[in-house]
Amino acid sequence: MKTLKIIGFAAVVISIIAAFTLQSCSSEKVAAYKNKSGAQLWGENCIRCHNIPSPASFNDTDWSTIQLHMRVRANLSKEQSDKIFEFLKSAN
Ligand code: HEC
Repeated sequence: MKTLKIIGFAAVVISIIAAFTLQSCSSEKVAAYKNKSGAQLWGENCIRCHNIPSPASFNDTDWSTIQLHMRVRANLSKEQSDKIFEFLKSAN
């Protein structure tokens, strides 16, 4: 009986440690992408499927339309895609 209790206690401790470790991992990832600039996100995401489009290729109106299209294709959050397209519009 005593051994079972010890095993049970160890399992609880291990799962608590695992829960904290996993949580800290995911919050670090979120923090990492939050610190990325629009230019960085553009370089990492917009080259996955085609050649990276230069900011100068389109005017602001065109970029707004393309944002609607590519945000869905690239599966970006609103925050990420806003950063990318603000960068593209500031650099064309
Ligand atoms: C998951 C793949 C994928 C990613 C990631 C992606 N694109 Fe595209 N993109 C496409 C495809 C496919 C097309 C061709 C048009 C279509 O069929 O949707 C395209 C077309 C375009 C075009 C041509 C104009 C248009 O709207 O058709 C532009 C400009 C463009 N992408 C910009 C971007 C930018 C900027 C990013 C980064 C935010 C991006 N793309 C990320 C798949 C992707």
